[in-house]
Amino acid sequence: EILTDFVGNLPKIELHLHIEGTLEPELLIALAQRNGVDIPYKTIEAARAAYQFEDLQSFLNIYYLGASVLREERDFYELTLAYMSRCKAQQIRHVELFFDPQTHLANGVALAAVMGGITAALRDAERDWHISSALILCFERDRDPQPAVALLERACALGRIAGIGLDSAELGNPPEKFQEVFKVAKSMGLHRVAHAGEEGPPSYIWQALDVLDVERIDHGVRCLEDPALVRRLVDDRIPLTVCPFSNVALKVFSRLSEHNLGRMLKAGLLATIHSDDPAYFGGYLSENIIGTLSDLDLTAKDALLLERNAVEAAFCTDQRKQSLF
Ligand code: HPA
Ligand code: ZN
Repeated sequence: EILTDFVGNLPKIELHLHIEGTLEPELLIALAQRNGVDIPYKTIEAARAAYQFEDLQSFLNIYYLGASVLREERDFYELTLAYMSRCKAQQIRHVELFFDPQTHLANGVALAAVMGGITAALRDAERDWHISSALILCFERDRDPQPAVALLERACALGRIAGIGLDSAELGNPPEKFQEVFKVAKSMGLHRVAHAGEEGPPSYIWQALDVLDVERIDHGVRCLEDPALVRRLVDDRIPLTVCPFSNVALKVFSRLSEHNLGRMLKAGLLATIHSDDPAYFGGYLSENIIGTLSDLDLTAKDALLLERNAVEAAFCTDQRKQSLF
């Protein structure tokens, strides 16, 4: 189809991508065997069959279980390089990746192994395929916020961290819980983003803006429930990194044709499309864009608007932005 070719060939930008969420069943099973990690599925088919979710928490249980097979620096290298080669195939020119260090530390993996493996793969992808990238350290909001500042300082000493994010179980874990580390991050000159308004209420989006001083909102789809919030997001041109396949897989919307992305764009919001955890949600960036455009009756013109929005939302230099589009 024409739209499929157009989106496939369009230079694209990925801004909402959890690297642990790119762990395909093939690599999951291979790493479980290589590292001697016991997981409940013994075959690729059994792993894939387990990827059925009721909500965010039921997904997170499977996602953290999957992440537990990542033990050695080379595991993180292989995971990240496999993802970057998908980026090359999909004409993705710039990617900003989330990683969840607290999960790996809890599994007994050294921070240097996590960051060393990921950054080596990013460096190789930039050298060989000219894909630029940035790394965003996510704090897991259902954990104790107390150790966050020390972890951030350790990570910045080990490698190039572009910014911080906030992910994991949203309900009951409001952004304000992480006020201190976001303040420190700002003082360090780091970028700041937070997942908000995926399952949580519009008040969490307000808090992410007013208490954490974030520059982008990840998901944010529930903003349409609050007209004053929409006005704020439009006036301040705050980007919203929307992940349609994720929202359907986690039952934020019952089907793709029910997604509110079309309404978000009509409201003048700076929305973009991304893939979140593509190994778990049934598609990478091109599939998310093509599926959403076709189910919402959007056009190639909307695809261009979405990518222009993503360029504006990206944390790269103006010079790099000009070469992207
Ligand atoms: N939401 C919150 N936390 C996450 C997600 C998500 O979609 N993916 C990985 N961690
Ligand atoms: Zn996410």
